[in-house]
Amino acid sequence: MRVVKLLIWTIIAVGGLYPAYPLVMGDSTVLADPAKYLLEYYGKTATLFLIAVLSLSPLQTLFPKAAIVRNFNRHRRLIGVGAFFFALTHLCFYAVYTGGLSGFFEDIGKPFILSGVTAFAILFVLAVTSANRVIRRLGGKNWKRLHRLVYGAAVLLVFHQALQEKAGAVQTVYFFAPLAVLQILRIGRTYFQPKKA
Ligand code: HEM
Repeated sequence: MRVVKLLIWTIIAVGGLYPAYPLVMGDSTVLADPAKYLLEYYGKTATLFLIAVLSLSPLQTLFPKAAIVRNFNRHRRLIGVGAFFFALTHLCFYAVYTGGLSGFFEDIGKPFILSGVTAFAILFVLAVTSANRVIRRLGGKNWKRLHRLVYGAAVLLVFHQALQEKAGAVQTVYFFAPLAVLQILRIGRTYFQPKKA
């Protein structure tokens, strides 16, 4: 258990610090526009963390006896908070890239920005309601209901990524297709598995 938690913290730390490497090594493609590079990098990392957390429940349904899946599932909250942390960093570099948040208010009506902002607002609500104290106050059932919003955030992020000029739809398919397959298999397993006598 502790090893898995340590592993997740290590992945978060490596994910957070990785961009320092090409910056320190003087990678010219990165140095041409570091703010844009960091904006894109942390957007992708946040999305991958969110996809990881959403993959854990289907994996648990498909491999109920796998100890590794069970152990990662116990730390879903940590992975989810990691996703929020990277999304916040993405937003910070958006502010650096556009020279402040005034452009943000001008662009908020655009579907690309609106989908990102709404997804971010959902992740924010989920992150601040992740403390044990808040979970106790809300009650397990309400907390679970509220945290189903994460699926809404995922759908919004499909739009956010697909509408992005550079990588767009192709990258979005690479990112989200494995999750979609896992969810379909999970539904199949849950609803069409013959019931034990
Ligand atoms: C807070 C509101 C947000 C704003 C203002 C915002 C803004 C942006 C901008 C300006 C880009 C770059 C577009 C380009 O290079 O043409 C971008 C890309 C991206 N964003 Fe966001 N974003 C927001 C929220 C999010 C969230 C919450 C996530 C994920 C959890 C996310 C994931 C991504 C991804 C994956 C990309 C594509 C990166 C790439 O491959 O180049 N964004 N976003």
